[in-house]
Amino acid sequence: MILEILKYPDKRLRTIASPVQEVNSEIKKQVKDMFETMYAAPGIGLAATQVNFHQRLIVIDISDEGNEPLCLINPEIMQKNGEIEYEEGCLSVPNYYESIKRANEIKVSAQNELGQTFEIEAKEMLSICIQHEMDHLNGILFVDHLSKLKQKRLKKKAVKQSKKL
Ligand code: NI
Repeated sequence: MILEILKYPDKRLRTIASPVQEVNSEIKKQVKDMFETMYAAPGIGLAATQVNFHQRLIVIDISDEGNEPLCLINPEIMQKNGEIEYEEGCLSVPNYYESIKRANEIKVSAQNELGQTFEIEAKEMLSICIQHEMDHLNGILFVDHLSKLKQKRLKKKAVKQSKKL
């Protein structure tokens, strides 16, 4: 099932997600629907917060073919190294791209869709994507990393656009 993606400046995007207590059938269904929604968008990452489901769960696929699904439940960053700057976008902030600085390499611990704990080391694109999606779980959008002036301009534009719809 394709889920509705919340759009900035929707306040529900500011919700801090709770930990997933158990990877049960409800969570598995949510993972499936989130992959479907992400691929349909199309996007390379989606956090549960963006579909108004406030538990710590993200899905990612940065491959060109869309055949490398990665699901992270209750992700935690264990280590961060280096710095990388990349022009990011977000399904919740359509048609807006800005350069953001993040850690280049990260080590993350999480559970998969079977509830098994695993660790993953990521760099560059995958690292950026995981950090971006994990921010969503804490109610943070990539645009929050921009200057106050840029944020003000963007908000004005987004509010105007939402009134047109
Ligand atoms: Ni995003």
